[in-house]
Amino acid sequence: MSVLLCKLPPYNTAQSTANTKQGVCMCLCVVAGAAMASEGEKITNVKIINSLSNLQDRLNFYSTWAPTHEQDIAQMEYRSPFYAAETLAGQCPGGAVREGLLVLDVACGTGLVADEMFLFGFRKFHGIDACQQMMDVAQRKGLFQKLILGMLGTGTAPLESGVYDVAVAVGALQGGGVPWTALTEILQSLKPGGLLCFTLRGDSSGYREQSLSHLQPYLDRGLLEAVTEQQVAKMQRPLWQEEWEDKYIPGLVCIYRKLPRQADTVTD
Ligand SMILES: C[S@@+](CC[C@H](N)C(=O)[O-])C[C@H]1O[C@@H](n2cnc3c(N)ncnc32)[C@H](O)[C@@H]1O
Repeated sequence: MSVLLCKLPPYNTAQSTANTKQGVCMCLCVVAGAAMASEGEKITNVKIINSLSNLQDRLNFYSTWAPTHEQDIAQMEYRSPFYAAETLAGQCPGGAVREGLLVLDVACGTGLVADEMFLFGFRKFHGIDACQQMMDVAQRKGLFQKLILGMLGTGTAPLESGVYDVAVAVGALQGGGVPWTALTEILQSLKPGGLLCFTLRGDSSGYREQSLSHLQPYLDRGLLEAVTEQQVAKMQRPLWQEEWEDKYIPGLVCIYRKLPRQADTVTD
């Protein structure tokens, strides 16, 4: 195991938080059994994950990439976790109420979303992900009360019904590998009145309409209501494209509320 100290870019508030918590100006990066990737290799890793369309291939790649994932995506200026946390904070009471809200981090990966939500005063996190190695990194942050290994979207995810106040899916439902069929499981895990927050990445025309069409059956059946939508001009850089240094991808943060009726299976 090697221990490295590295400077962090200022946009990454989550990693800055880790620094604040530790009272140091540098981030302690612990890399187990993996050499730090060169700049070229980091970009290659991002390109590889974006080129993999098969879910099992993606999960296999995440399992080996996990120890260096956060450092490797730093150049991407991946701001979705911050914007999701900020938008959710705008919809939730503050102080002790917010501290008491139980949050399900859907496809939590290494825990970047919980990092950001902690900054906004959220304190209770459960995470679910299909990749144990990604969750091992999340576990070491000490923010999660529970981490659940589970595949979302097949109706088999081991989630309790009606327990979460908030479910947050960042880089998950669109562009992250979690199929939209997972909505049923996620909604079942929410309390009536609970909030569903997810991010969308605007890297294709009609991405908003295409993505939100998956919500329509739930809206039509009175199981969900739209709460807010925040447009983000600079969600992340398209590191997998040519000349990515000059570009940003826009995106959306969407919040819906589960209406007080049991969300059951919707077949679309
Ligand atoms: C792009 S990462 C996003 C992680 C985290 N939400 C973030 O914003 O940093 C996608 C994560 O989704 C997980 N994942 C992909 N498909 C999944 C599925 N069907 N069920 C559960 N987790 C899945 C991967 O293992 C990976 O950790």
